[in-house]
Order: sequence, then structure tokens, then C-alpha cells
Amino acid sequence: MIFTVAIDGPAAAGKGTIGRAVAERFGFAHLDTGLLYRAVGAKVAEGADPVAACALTPGDLARGDLRSAEAGQAASRVAAVPEVRAALLDFQRRFARREGGAVLDGRDIGTVICPEAEVKLYVTASAEVRAGRRWQELGGEAAPLPYATVLAEVVERDARDMGRADAPLRPAVDALILDTSALSIDEAVARAVAAVRARR
Ligand code: C5P
Repeated sequence: MIFTVAIDGPAAAGKGTIGRAVAERFGFAHLDTGLLYRAVGAKVAEGADPVAACALTPGDLARGDLRSAEAGQAASRVAAVPEVRAALLDFQRRFARREGGAVLDGRDIGTVICPEAEVKLYVTASAEVRAGRRWQELGGEAAPLPYATVLAEVVERDARDMGRADAPLRPAVDALILDTSALSIDEAVARAVAAVRARR
């Protein structure tokens, strides 16, 4: 059985949480494609050649520092390099069409990696809500940086991801738009699960 769920959207909209939950519910494999760009960005920040850095090892993907805001910014810089996107394409396409079903979350899954995906979701939320969630994850009042800085980083990364020439972030024409600004995690997951169920 080949079945792909493509989940795209801006940073901190809930794609990863929804993707993991949908994959678990249906027994599909899950790929967080942002992690690929984060791993490449980290190697490039250390001086590696961008294309050579795309030959990722399991160790590259298991690095503990890939979740940081700096790693996110480094990822979004290398993600604007067409040769990097091209080098990561095949692996993602093969994952999407693997036997047994797959959920991929990222920025260009429904538009570039797998336009034939059976289900396409565009998960979004206002920049303020997304920055608020990130800030809470970082500890809220105890976070090492103020909310305004987190918001500025979210806005900057959105602009870079939506404004790049190659595979800019945008919903596929046939994507279901899921705005999670006013939804709980459970509600957002329930809507995504219902969308998958409707196509199976
Ligand atoms: O989703 P995450 O925040 O981990 O993604 C990090 C960065 O990687 C994004 O800001 C984006 O620039 C890039 N990315 C991408 N295409 C994807 C996934 C991530 O360009 N499919």
C-alpha cells in the first residue's frame, strides 16, 4: 500500500506533532524533513561545503543541537540553495512512496516532493501564536530570550522560507488548510486524522 500524507507549513505551527500523531494512528512511517536541512545547516556552519554536507549519516541526524533556534536559522539559509534542495530530493521522494504509507512534514512536500500525495495538509497559525508556543517550550518567563526575540526570529524565518525562488513555502492548490491558532493539539490532530480517513 502506497499512501502519502504531505504536511507543510511555517515554523512552530504544529506540523511535527500532527505528523507524528497521524503516523502513529495509521501505522505509517514519519519523516521530519526539517531535520535534514537542520543537519546540513549545522555542517555548513562548521565549514562544510553545502552539497558535500548533504551526504547525511545517521550520526549527523542524531546530533543533540539540531533543535536550537540557531540551527533553524542555519537550516533556512541552506534551504534556499537550489543544489542543496536537489541533493535531498531523491531520499524524500523515495520515503514518500515507500511501501506501508508515509507522513512527511516540511515546507514543499505537497508542492515539490510529492505533488501526488493522497492527503495534503497546510498547517498554519498566526506568527504571534507560533512564537508564543516556541517561547513557552523554551521556558516562558524562565526562557533565555524574550518573547519579542522569538517572534522576530519566527517572522524572519517565514519571510526567508516564503520568499525564496526555489520551492518557496506555500500551500498546494489542493491542500486542506488547518489553522491551529485557536485549536488544541487534540483538536488539530483529530482534524488531520479525519482528513486521512476520508481518503483511505
Ligand atoms: O521544520 P523546521 O523548523 O525543522 O525546518 C527548518 C528549516 O528547514 C525551515 O525554516 C526551512 O527553511 C527548511 N525546510 C525546507 N523544506 C522542508 C523542510 C524544512 O526548506 N521540506
